[in-house]
Amino acid sequence: MIDFPRPDGVPHDAHGSVACTAPSNIALVKYWGKHGRQLPSNPSISLTLSAAHTRTRIDYRAGGTAGLTFFFHGERTDAFADRIERYLRSIHDITPFVRELDLEIHSENTFPHSTGIASSASAMAALAHGLCRIEHDLFGTLADRDLFRRKASYLARLASGSACRSIYPTAAVWGAWNGLSAASDEVAIPMEDRIHPVFRSYRDTILIVSGSEKSVSSSAGHGLMTDNPYAPVRFDQARTHMTRILDAMAAGDLEAMGRIIEAEALTLHALMMTSTPSYVLMHPNTLAMIDRIRAFRRATDLPVYFTLDAGPNIHLLYPASAEPDVRPFMEDQLLPLCEDGRSLDDRVGHGATDTTDA
Ligand code: DP6
Repeated sequence: MIDFPRPDGVPHDAHGSVACTAPSNIALVKYWGKHGRQLPSNPSISLTLSAAHTRTRIDYRAGGTAGLTFFFHGERTDAFADRIERYLRSIHDITPFVRELDLEIHSENTFPHSTGIASSASAMAALAHGLCRIEHDLFGTLADRDLFRRKASYLARLASGSACRSIYPTAAVWGAWNGLSAASDEVAIPMEDRIHPVFRSYRDTILIVSGSEKSVSSSAGHGLMTDNPYAPVRFDQARTHMTRILDAMAAGDLEAMGRIIEAEALTLHALMMTSTPSYVLMHPNTLAMIDRIRAFRRATDLPVYFTLDAGPNIHLLYPASAEPDVRPFMEDQLLPLCEDGRSLDDRVGHGATDTTDA
């Protein structure tokens, strides 16, 4: 376990407010399967998004009953408050000061709830960033930016695995393997300086095949990997993919990277289909879109590739330079297959940051 400073002893009159935003991220090599205290069974890499993000404000005050109230889009939401309280209890060994504070948390997402975009990565990254900001305000322990991000990533991971990658700009790796000595199971590490600049403006258009709640949660899906007969082969494959995709991303080889991205997306869903009980999250229109994207790529030679989260929606990934060609194709051939023609244009962004509206 990483040995972060564990400040304790909050001044009795301490109070304040912190505000931050954190984005969602899209995994290129997927985290699927975990063990122990939120440790991944294989390494993963993601691009950090920007439009899809969570804004969070935390008001804190010492001297009360260490209570917590949570407001989501202005409405008091006790179910979320319970989840966050359980999480805060689970990290008392790392952030002991939190149990001396009353917290009032206000959170909102920029993307509608029914887009099928996972909100846990952005929400938990924002919460973790906010906790680190409070720690620094109270104790001055996290002045070093790298240490701040490392602790935020660590705390985010303990709330939701993929959230630990949303702390960093452009791209992040989470999970140890022998292809990158700095990589760790406990925190994500920044990749911005190790990959080609083309990724700083990369596009991700999220094509909403269905905005409905998915039938099997990611947490349950991770759990089913324990008995999946293909799990050991899969974890090996992920490590191989990681080494290859890092080479491709360093060189800006979008074709080599794209092949891995699509193999990863389809492997993720194959793992769901081969779990016991098995389940299918893709919809017929997901497959129809995959066919059309591949046909478009064959016809144009443009580096336009898809990936999928644990759900039916397509993430269409392409460099900014391809946008003028991709847009008419999307409007003509993909949006008609989306639920109510819905999509969300996103692009690579800057990771978790403070905001000034505290
Ligand atoms: C398919 O991070 O949502 O998006 O750790 O249980 O909160 P928990 O799971 P979560 O799983 C994300 C799975 C994925 C792949 C990925 O983001 O790497």
